[in-house]
Parts: sequence; structure tokens; C-alpha cells
Amino acid sequence: MKMKIKIDDRVTDILKSFKLPDEIGFGTTIAPVMITCDFKEGIWETPKLGPYGPLKLQPTAKIFHYGQEIFEGMKAYRVNKKGPYLFRPLENYKRFNSSAERMAMPFIPEDLFMGTIKALVDKVSPFIPNQSGDSLYIRPFMISTENHLGIAPSKEFKFIVVASPSASYFKKEKPIDVFIERFYVRAVEGGTGQAKTGGNYASGLVSAMKAEKLGYSQTLWLDAERREDCEEMSGMNLFVVKNGKLVTPALTGTILEGITRSSLIRIAKDHNIDVEERSLGLKELIQGVKEGQITEAFACGTAVILKSISSFGEEDGTTYKIKSKESEYTYQGEKVRGQIGIFLKEMLLSLQEGRSKDPYGWRVKVPTSVDSYQKVTKGDNQQVHLDC
Ligand SMILES: Cc1ncc(COP(=O)(O)O)c(C=O)c1O
Repeated sequence: MKMKIKIDDRVTDILKSFKLPDEIGFGTTIAPVMITCDFKEGIWETPKLGPYGPLKLQPTAKIFHYGQEIFEGMKAYRVNKKGPYLFRPLENYKRFNSSAERMAMPFIPEDLFMGTIKALVDKVSPFIPNQSGDSLYIRPFMISTENHLGIAPSKEFKFIVVASPSASYFKKEKPIDVFIERFYVRAVEGGTGQAKTGGNYASGLVSAMKAEKLGYSQTLWLDAERREDCEEMSGMNLFVVKNGKLVTPALTGTILEGITRSSLIRIAKDHNIDVEERSLGLKELIQGVKEGQITEAFACGTAVILKSISSFGEEDGTTYKIKSKESEYTYQGEKVRGQIGIFLKEMLLSLQEGRSKDPYGWRVKVPTSVDSYQKVTKGDNQQVHLDC
């Protein structure tokens, strides 16, 4: 697959003078270059790799009024000078297009998505922090840019990819306390819960504020109709270990189909851990925690990887604290006892970071293609063909 990309002449100098701060944080340090690509008159124009900076949009651009927007969250890893590796990027690509379909936005071709991301990761590669848990967080997104105040799908869009050299999402190692949201809801059947679109997150912020005030760090969303089934957190999927089995809410159309979720399910099954994808009632969760059948709970997602949950709690301060216990699984042919969450996190992270074999073919090496770019024109902007 070949893709054309225009590289702004300023990119080389900008990258030469860029330095990582001592404290990089998560999502706060932004790489100094980015990808932009416009969709006009039904076609995607040639993408550009240029300096990171403000976008020029008219106040009547549809994105500001109707929120026609989608995004993805992915990571590139470069631990111990290996990589950079992307993790299952095709899954992000597929989910991006399925979000696009739901939000009446144009389909993006695979070479445009994968090629621009690889080009950006390659350029930013020297700035990917290389301690375990660190990564380059990549944020591809698409916004509606047509200038018109009528409520109708935009005819013009912009695809953008920015990247952020990042440390762990949560600063503290300790497990999190999760707030059971019984009033607000995140997603309804037939709505946009399955899509990665800004509105889902904006509407959840009121609960995030409430949770924080009450001393919790995440919201647990329930189904919108009956408020009886556990769904997910605002940016993470939910797992519990009940009687040694891994249980996670089934994908019903209101939950985001997490790539971390599906990866953990596969790894667990391959280590003789039973996995149940089914409805997980709130009553079952509370009772299971109280009576000690639920011995672990954790949240998972690209940003957080896997984060243990120590308790679930209510608005009135009632908390259900998990009494953690070891379970059994198989590792390298041997039966082992331990915490399933800790085991799965290490299995997943070592695979993502290139510290272990990848039996699934999930790791995708980003070619260091700067030198292999095939120049086709020279001028103010280099235009190159990129293998992707
Ligand atoms: C609402 C929501 N659920 C779950 C996830 C986890 O998905 P993934 O593992 O693909 O990052 C995310 C993060 O993207 C999310 O935003």
C-alpha cells in the first residue's frame, strides 16, 4: 500500500529543537508536529505533516454547534529501544469508521488512517519515553468543518492526528474507588454509546464532577432503561472476578467495544481462565462484593491499560469494598494462583511493549521510513510516497 503525504519543510527543524520536559504527565506534553487532511467535494485531499498548532475555523463551522466529531485513542510503545510498536491499530481503524458511520461522517480509507499514523509515529519516535508503562498516546480525530448553521450533516471534514509522549494515566499506583451513578445515564439503545464521539464524554462530565466531590475517581454507568445492569466506566470497560471466573458486561450496543477488553478476554481464555460476557446486574455486583464471591474488579482501556478497583460506592457514602483473593490460572503449562488482574496486565503490557512473544500478531512495528520515503516532488513542501 502506498500513500502520498506532504511534509512541511519546517518539520525537520521543529523536531530538532523539541525537548521533552522532565515531567511528561499523560496527555499534557504534545508532540510538535501533526497530521491534517481535508475532506471536500466527496474526496480526501493529500494529507499533510506539519507543525502542531491552532486550527483556523469559522465560528459557523458545524463542529461548534452540532458536535459531529469522532476520535480514537491508541498508543505506540518504544520500551528498551525496541519498536516503535502499535497495538492492534487495525481495530482502531475499524472502530473509527464504525463511529464515522454512526455520526454520518465519511469513511476514511485504510492507507490514509494507517499511513498518516505511521508517518507521525516515525517522526516523533525519538520522543517516545521508553520506561515500561510509558508510551506515545496517539489521538486521531475527525471534525465537521462546513460553515453553515442548518442542522444537516456537514459536507466538509478535517481528519487530524496529534500525539502526546505520555507516562502512566494514573499517577498513583493504588487501586481506584468507583462511583455507582444511579441518576445520569451515558448511553441508550439506538443511541451513540458504541461510537467514540465527543458527546458521550461531554454528557458524562457532570457525573465525573459529582464522583470527584464524593471522593471517587470514576463513574460506573448503568443501563439507561432500568438502571439495573452495569455497563462501563466513562473511558474504560469493566471486569470482575467472580468465583474465579472473569465476568464482563456483554456488548449490547450501548458499550464501547474496547480493544483492551477483547485482548484481555483472549489472553485470559488462553490461560484457562473462564470468561463470561453477559449482563452483570448491579445487585449481583453488590451482593458478590459483600459476600466475597467477587474477589477482584478492574477497569481497562488503552489509556489506563488495567487498573484495579478497590471499592464501589453510592452517593450517600455507602461503600462496597472488595475482599481480594487469589484465583487459579495456567501459565506456561503450570497451574498458578494469583490475582488475575495483575497477571493479565503484565501479559498484555509485556506484549505491547515488545518484552514478550506475540502469538496473536497484535504488535505492529512502525517502519523507520524517514529514509525510505520516496520523494516525488521538491519545493516548499516535500511530497512523498510512503509505504504503509
Ligand atoms: C467509553 C470507553 N469505554 C471503553 C474504552 C476502552 O477502549 P479501548 O480498550 O479500545 O481503549 C474507552 C477508551 O477508548 C472508552 O472511551
